[in-house]
Amino acid sequence: MAQKRLAIFASGSGSNAEKIAEYFTDHADIEVTLILSNNPQAGVIARARRLHIPVVLFDRKTFYETNKIIDILQNEHIDLVVLAGFMMLIPEAMVHAFPNRIINIHPALLPKYGGKGMYGHFVHEAVVEARELESGISIHYVNEHYDEGDIIFQATCPVTPEDTPEEVARKVQVLEHQHYPEVVEKLLSALNS
Ligand code: GAR
Repeated sequence: MAQKRLAIFASGSGSNAEKIAEYFTDHADIEVTLILSNNPQAGVIARARRLHIPVVLFDRKTFYETNKIIDILQNEHIDLVVLAGFMMLIPEAMVHAFPNRIINIHPALLPKYGGKGMYGHFVHEAVVEARELESGISIHYVNEHYDEGDIIFQATCPVTPEDTPEEVARKVQVLEHQHYPEVVEKLLSALNS
């Protein structure tokens, strides 16, 4: 069986990208081929270098006005695109080039607390503000709209009245690190290309 190839897009710290990359180090069937980022300051870049994974940096104009990123993904024979804290909307052409091959993780229980502007700490602040009793993670397919593709997997954690947004973020991050690599592995194992 040919090695399955994974590309991870990240805009920030990259802790999920790193967990996924570590999980697949020395994996028999799956490799993290590339890490891509729109943010030259992103922590993910140092993490990628440490893991010896090639990094592709791009700007907004390249992403939205050219096919360069799609070409790179196709030339590298990428089987699955994994968004891990990637803060830009995926262009329609890329969604069409990779149907059901782009997934995202969202730090809440979609369809609640999703959509434009709902990312990172904004999500956890909204969850605390609404006095939710639970939060969690949603892993979903990506379409042309923020956080609207079909949900693949969810996991929950309790939220207590004393929890601050930072505490909710910490609980959610534990779930992300625990589940995202395994969900990626299951999806890739099910692909027969
Ligand atoms: C993660 O919590 C991820 O769910 C969230 O950004 C964080 C990235 O952390 N994504 C979104 O909010 C997308 N709407 P990381 O850079 O440490 O992996």
